[in-house]
Amino acid sequence: MPKNCDIETAEPTSCDIKDITLADAGKARILWAERDMPVLRRIRERFTEERPLEGVHVGACMHVTTETANLMRALVAGGASVTLCASNPLSTQDDTAASLVRDFGVNVYAIAGESMDSYNAHIEAVIATNPQIVMDDGADLDTALHTHHADKLAGVIGGTEETTTGVMRLASMAAEGTLAYPVFNINDANTKHCFDNHYGTGQSTLDGIVRATNRLLCGRTMVVSGYGYCGSGLALRAKGMGMRVIVCEVDACKALEAHMEGYEVMPAAEAAKHADVWVTVTGDCKVIDAPAFENMKDGAILANSGHFDSEINMTWLEENAAEKRTLKHLVDEYVLADGRTITVLAEGRLVNLSCAEGHPASVMDMSFANQVLAAEYLYHHKNELENRVYDVPAEIDDGVARVKLETLGVAIDELTDEQIAYMNSWNF
Ligand code: NAI
Repeated sequence: MPKNCDIETAEPTSCDIKDITLADAGKARILWAERDMPVLRRIRERFTEERPLEGVHVGACMHVTTETANLMRALVAGGASVTLCASNPLSTQDDTAASLVRDFGVNVYAIAGESMDSYNAHIEAVIATNPQIVMDDGADLDTALHTHHADKLAGVIGGTEETTTGVMRLASMAAEGTLAYPVFNINDANTKHCFDNHYGTGQSTLDGIVRATNRLLCGRTMVVSGYGYCGSGLALRAKGMGMRVIVCEVDACKALEAHMEGYEVMPAAEAAKHADVWVTVTGDCKVIDAPAFENMKDGAILANSGHFDSEINMTWLEENAAEKRTLKHLVDEYVLADGRTITVLAEGRLVNLSCAEGHPASVMDMSFANQVLAAEYLYHHKNELENRVYDVPAEIDDGVARVKLETLGVAIDELTDEQIAYMNSWNF
């Protein structure tokens, strides 16, 4: 049953949120974020005129933040009816959820700190609305639909997926032949991963660590596990903060890249002896496991910025710690049998979205512009698409970059006809 949704001033919407009276604060923050999202705003203005998603049911499973709220507003402006649940139990901003329900006509099922039962029930609430477009971040909604609701799959036109981990899951469903609708891979749009994953995760992960611990970072050693788009951005920012940075990798080329960039590279069990702060950002599981815990420096702070809470082996810690103390909300200290302490932030869940507010609006502007334009493309090409994972069309990706540059007041050169001919020839 919908709860906490006593709305007198707005159209009644179904929801399960913490407290509708938080809506004023949420609205102010949503509108503040919008000021740094000019590309998305421009799309919303066009959508208000053209209504390209008129009558379409969108089911979204995303972090309920002010930036996502502006994505939802664009979809609603385009004529869609939207139901949103959280893609992580800790990342919901309750005031944003309240304002989405009261002010922007979005059905929201998300409460910060909800249990896994509540998290899953909220995904089910979205599925109960028979979504035609599935907008996911991590593929939990897609997975629930495919696993438990085969009867609803035929009604789904297609989906979009925001993050690396979700794309990996969907690609594996497609390889197995079980993916039941086309999905656009937003993560691999250049205007997404080169900015959101790299600069967004770099800054917001440090933001989460600092807000949670208030530790001075300079002069300390940061271990970064995973030197992909996110990890390389994080290493860059940690270095900029005056930290010594060690990188752990399993991909030889990425490890070489980190070495050439000037970072120390070593296996996790060795890095454990040096880590003051250790962040995993791989999309893998058990990245910090028993051999690392056994070598770990006393007082190490562990955090994860990869999508799922699988990267730090929390079960090992729970089973092997002599004592666990909560130092403050989302900061837990484990005392090992030999007296060493290890501090874990956000229970091993996404630190930037749990201990801080996720990526800044300016970077989500591009990611979410890709989301909304891919949804429009999907709807208008629904009869031409197969059940597989598609890249975002290059004209959408390039268009987002061009509008972003324009809004930043940055001009670039255009290729001349002679240059185009030169670069397309071989016999010069
Ligand atoms: P990526 O594929 O570019 O990089 C991942 C790297 O981790 C690869 O270089 C891989 O070789 C390495 N790796 C895998 N297993 C490892 C292990 N056991 N030890 C050390 N390195 C290992 O992926 P990307 O885009 O950097 O994403 C990483 C994770 O972050 C994903 O789960 C993604 O969904 C998530 N993500 C989180 C964001 C946030 O806001 N915190 C934003 C965007 C992505």
